[in-house]
Amino acid sequence: MGGALWSGWERSDIAPSVILDRHCASPAPPHRVARTPEEIPAGFRPEFVVLAVKPGGAEQAVAAVAPWLEGATLLSVMAGRRCGGLRAAARAAGHDAPVIRAMPNMPSSIGRGVTGVYAEPEIGLVRTMQAEALMRAVGQVAWVEREEQLDLVTALSGSGPAYVYLLAELLEQIGVTHGLPPDTARLLARGTVAGAGAVLDASATDAATLRRNVTSPNGTTAAALNVLMQPDAWPDSLARAIAAATARAAELAR
Ligand SMILES: NC(=O)c1ccc[n+]([C@@H]2O[C@H](COP(=O)([O-])OP(=O)(O)OC[C@H]3O[C@@H](n4cnc5c(N)ncnc54)[C@H](OP(=O)(O)O)[C@@H]3O)[C@@H](O)[C@H]2O)c1
Repeated sequence: MGGALWSGWERSDIAPSVILDRHCASPAPPHRVARTPEEIPAGFRPEFVVLAVKPGGAEQAVAAVAPWLEGATLLSVMAGRRCGGLRAAARAAGHDAPVIRAMPNMPSSIGRGVTGVYAEPEIGLVRTMQAEALMRAVGQVAWVEREEQLDLVTALSGSGPAYVYLLAELLEQIGVTHGLPPDTARLLARGTVAGAGAVLDASATDAATLRRNVTSPNGTTAAALNVLMQPDAWPDSLARAIAAATARAAELAR
């Protein structure tokens, strides 16, 4: 996710000053990439330190960047990990860094992400606006009022691109199973998902209306939707999938 944000920021007029990642193999100028904390200039004073490690690696990562936390705000994109725990990790590393949480998604890499953001009430307007500017540089931003709501954001949009890719994958597989050449099935499946997404993006019309507009009564689309929209079909399986992802995010918090 850090790589996706980095790509998105590189495309915008906001570029991260230093990237710390032990596997970083980007062609960006080497002075901006550090593989170990020792490679970060000692006098570096960032306004924001973005944490994009696996939730279990939070404490280790906060300890690694502790020398640069003085005066900085921690912006975490980690699923589950709560502001309170991250602030405690920063305190344990010697700094009382304020924490803002953002839950972006992978299309951030091309500036088309959607990000849910939560800031503790005491964060203040300046930091809040700066965090918003950072996330707006890679797509759209929605603030949530309660931190727990980020678990649902994680399940809905953070993990959401995977559900859409799964749809393309299954359409392709079914096309092949029923006799289409693989290349043809792939082109049709990918093109359908990408094209429908582009129309959704370009239109102010809500998704349900767009769906109705392409569904003739008693036609082929209606025949398929009669299957998909059975309460125990997509409405139920998607609701259960989102509930499972939300529960997993809450579990990561513990
Ligand atoms: N994937 C998504 O679509 C998505 C969407 C929204 C939010 N997120 C959140 O983004 C976070 C990152 O997810 P990810 O899938 O991108 O994880 P990832 O692939 O493991 O990326 C994290 C990178 O940071 C490196 N790293 C970890 N600790 C480090 C340290 N102390 N010093 C230097 N480098 C360090 C890791 O190296 P090692 O592998 O060696 O540890 C790895 O290369 C997660 O908390 C996730 O919840 C992900």
